[in-house]
Amino acid sequence: MNYLEALNNRYSVKKFDPTRIVEPEKLYQILEAARLSASSMGLQPYKIYIVGSEPVKQQLIPAFYNPSQISTCSHLIVITSKKHLEKEYLDGYLRHITEVRGTPAEQLLRFKANIEGFTKDQNFVQQHWAEKQSYIALANLMFAAALEDVDTCPMEGFRADALGDVLMLDREKEQVSVTLALGYRAADDAFQTLKKVRKPTEKLFKFI
Ligand SMILES: Cc1cc2nc3c(=O)[nH]c(=O)nc-3n(C[C@H](O)[C@H](O)[C@H](O)COP(=O)(O)O)c2cc1C
Repeated sequence: MNYLEALNNRYSVKKFDPTRIVEPEKLYQILEAARLSASSMGLQPYKIYIVGSEPVKQQLIPAFYNPSQISTCSHLIVITSKKHLEKEYLDGYLRHITEVRGTPAEQLLRFKANIEGFTKDQNFVQQHWAEKQSYIALANLMFAAALEDVDTCPMEGFRADALGDVLMLDREKEQVSVTLALGYRAADDAFQTLKKVRKPTEKLFKFI
């Protein structure tokens, strides 16, 4: 499928077919798109939880304002973002670069100083910055799923505390950014027949 066809075909599913599970090969391909996502300074300040367990999904239902997607989806992806950029995290990232690329640690000192300078700037708000990065992963997951013919619904309509309790998140360290239900649309989900409501090109784009 051409990528614009895939984007036209995708919509935010309200009701999935509960009998259909996303095939593991497709799921891993889609997740790889999140792993390959770009992030500010490459720091990937987020974590991605994949809930495929039916009992856990059941426990998560009350955490959502609109639960029809959660009760019918194949998998629920929960993206959390880091609340703090700890020294150990930054050092671990720099070590990883050295391992993967063979870059000597001394050559990364300037990069490290740049990251520290950026994150200590008075305008830098760690939680907002980390959340913004997590939405890039969300977009890539949605796009990859559409290309794999897997349906999705991005969801922000949840009670973060309730979600955190079920997933036993460490609230000191991470917060839920956004979630994405995955599965196959139900034949009777009326939303699939609705036309897309989008700004016309002349209102959205300004060529300068
Ligand atoms: C970050 C984000 C959060 C969203 N949260 C919800 C949600 O909680 N519940 C829901 O039914 N739809 C949610 N949506 C879906 C939007 O309403 C939908 O993308 C928009 O109306 C455009 O429609 P379409 O995705 O079907 O093309 C969300 C979308 C995004 C991108």
